[in-house]
Amino acid sequence: MIPIDCYRERRLHLASRMERGVAVIPTAPERVRNRDAHYSYRFDSYFYYLTGFREPEAVLVIVAGGVAEPARHILFCRDKNPEREIWDGFRYGPQAAQETFGLDEAFPLDRLEALLPGLLADQPAVYCSLGYEAGWDARVMGWINQVRQQARGGVTAPSSIHDVRPLLDEMRLIKSEEEIAIMRRAGEISGGAHRRAMRAVRPGMSEYEVEAELLHEFRRHGAQAPAYTSIVAGGANACVLHYVENDARLNAGDLLLVDAGCELDGYASDITRTFPVNGHFSSAQKDLYQLVLAAQAAAIEAVRPGNPWDAPHEAALRVLVQGFIDAGLCRGSVDAVVQSEDYKRFFMHRTGHWLGLDVHDAGDYKREGQWRPLQPGMTLTVEPGCYVRPADDVPPHFWNIGIRIEDDVAVTSAGCEILTPAAPKTVGDIEELMRERDRSITREYGYG
Ligand code: GLY
Ligand code: MN
Ligand code: MN
Repeated sequence: MIPIDCYRERRLHLASRMERGVAVIPTAPERVRNRDAHYSYRFDSYFYYLTGFREPEAVLVIVAGGVAEPARHILFCRDKNPEREIWDGFRYGPQAAQETFGLDEAFPLDRLEALLPGLLADQPAVYCSLGYEAGWDARVMGWINQVRQQARGGVTAPSSIHDVRPLLDEMRLIKSEEEIAIMRRAGEISGGAHRRAMRAVRPGMSEYEVEAELLHEFRRHGAQAPAYTSIVAGGANACVLHYVENDARLNAGDLLLVDAGCELDGYASDITRTFPVNGHFSSAQKDLYQLVLAAQAAAIEAVRPGNPWDAPHEAALRVLVQGFIDAGLCRGSVDAVVQSEDYKRFFMHRTGHWLGLDVHDAGDYKREGQWRPLQPGMTLTVEPGCYVRPADDVPPHFWNIGIRIEDDVAVTSAGCEILTPAAPKTVGDIEELMRERDRSITREYGYG
């Protein structure tokens, strides 16, 4: 739980970075799925980061008065509506929202058009999510033009428009203890879901049956949604990086790659585990699995403050490339294969990304052309992989093996904390968990 004061502090911090001007930050629109049925609603991450307010149809306005005047934090939101609340449920309405979420002022959303030009009068700049939504860009220009029309009355209009997101991205990049606590809990729930998937899987099942186990575990612990569409990919499907059909049969002898994480109170977790459908890694599967696991260990070791963003990727890459050479997948020296990028046939993505309110979270990876140094409070994934498609020059026993191992980590002053330790990942621990499952089935049903 993020204390309400934290949202105010974030808004004050943003106002101090803006110096003077007005920020206008809408939440996400509701989206129609078909006719009058909507997609499940998810607020905008920037708006939520500054307010904690989850309802649709809301806009935050921050008027930064510079050093002379305190910033004003104004929320526009849906009015109370007893009729709609019978159908759609509770809405705060401006008065309760102002009190509950610690705003200075709050108005019904339909006052936005009338009040915004006045708020922009004599302000030097507007900050908004420039270019994000054409409709919003046009509205902002419309308000500025209305202020311009008052020029003969001595009113000046904002002369610059800035993208507010780079300021917020930098703030979002460093997580507070409270944010990390939520991400730790999200990681715990998702780790439990991966354990459940390992216990549930049987040859002959469909991928969607395993997906159902994951979703069940997310929701039963109060996570609001999956943080992204779960990937449940058996056998060759694991070599399709964004496979989401999840409708194929699972075969004994194949590996199952599961990339799934829940979203809890807005924060994403993102875990991948790869395990054998029948509970036992074959020798070729084990060889590649141990390689990816060693690459992940090297990458996690490189997650420490002061190391550049790229250090975990470089560490994982060198381990993977040496393994690809040893396995006969690549030829030449490690340096030569890294240089020629021949490894990209088998490892074509990077080793991680920022993680937070968005699964691929906000924040630049480079500063002035250089990978930025890791700092305590940054949260990221570490997810090396290996995907082998059939080809004449590839040993056939590796064909169609796809493996990824992904954990979430927070940079600490001493190194990093793994936020997703609940999901087993050594060959021994996975096979042990899957053996336990077989034993419990024998006990329960008298067959094994
Ligand atoms: N699940 C998305 C990713 O791993 O980046
Ligand atoms: Mn990821
Ligand atoms: Mn993932």
